Amino acid sequence: EKGGHSSFMVKEILEQPAAINDTLLGRTDSTGALVLDEMRIDPARLAAVDKIVFVACGTAFYSGLTAKYAIERWTRLPCSVELAHEFRYCDPVVDEKTLVVSISQSGETMDTLMAVKHARELGALTISICNTHGATIPRESDAVLYTHAGPEIAVASTKAFTAQITACYVLGLYLAQLRGGTHAEQAQQVMRELHEVPAKVEDLLGRMDRVREIARFMADTRSVLFLGRHVGYPIALEGALKLKEIAYIHAEGFAAGELKHGPIALIEPGQPVFIVVPSPTTPYSLHDKVVSNIQEIRARGARTLVIAEEGDEAVVPFADEVISVPATSPLLAPLLTIVPLQVFAAELAAAKGLDVDQPRNLAKSVTVE
Ligand code: M6R
Repeated sequence: EKGGHSSFMVKEILEQPAAINDTLLGRTDSTGALVLDEMRIDPARLAAVDKIVFVACGTAFYSGLTAKYAIERWTRLPCSVELAHEFRYCDPVVDEKTLVVSISQSGETMDTLMAVKHARELGALTISICNTHGATIPRESDAVLYTHAGPEIAVASTKAFTAQITACYVLGLYLAQLRGGTHAEQAQQVMRELHEVPAKVEDLLGRMDRVREIARFMADTRSVLFLGRHVGYPIALEGALKLKEIAYIHAEGFAAGELKHGPIALIEPGQPVFIVVPSPTTPYSLHDKVVSNIQEIRARGARTLVIAEEGDEAVVPFADEVISVPATSPLLAPLLTIVPLQVFAAELAAAKGLDVDQPRNLAKSVTVE
């Protein structure tokens, strides 16, 4: 049941510290090394893969896009993320040395299932990241790594998303460990940092009042844009999807670097724009580049709603609203930066009097192609 909350979605947003924590649980030994014996895959076969392809749809696809940044960094294996319904029909370059990782909350999405079957026919090693025990996709895969988010009832996916990112990270760190050397040392360090994330999400959830207030004021808004860079880019896409599907508001996510290649033409006075700012410790001065983007759109009248790391003073002069998230290493930040966007969408949909859990035209699990 809803446990006293106004919707399952709100309840599930609040369950994210547990979803992340439970997905990490039992996946390290007493020395801090990752142990994924549950997958029952020959570690030698896994260590031999020369590339990774994620296949998924919707929110699960965005969790793959997020994980790509981290997994390439930790393993130095090329990693691509494909929409499952496109993958099958593009004659994918996949063979015995390819690891195809499907991501699906329900484990029943037909498009994703067909992609997995196709990958197996091509000889790939297939791993399913799934939230539902014994579902079809894990049964049709060589191995499964379960997310332990608990049942997700609301059509809009929230806790499954953060649990999927966590599971992808666990898998990526395990691959890094198998590859040995500095990769392995780094894996243990990141695991320690990951264990600190649930408490940070809890802390963040405790200070969402202002985000809810902003959402209520925006109940008549017709369009909202979302900008992000690096791992903030898939978070911008996911934030936009949440708003579309439950609040029926036109919403679009962009890579901040694309602004000047077209989308900046959309900026007019009063246009609300969420910006997911990279942590100031992100390499290549990406933080400063995004701060310049905020400055550019604000100069053209945008209403800037800025999600930034705690203590990031550089954004303040250009922000109409600053939404602070606890500091963590840049690659783990998506587990935090998505939270205000989920809360915003849920509150705005409720303010419009919509059914937050059962949006029109949508089903929780899409079992047809
Ligand atoms: O069950 P799955 O994770 O395979 O579902 C994939 C998408 O249909 C799903 O994430 C959908 O986009 C959600 N409604 C998003 O909130």
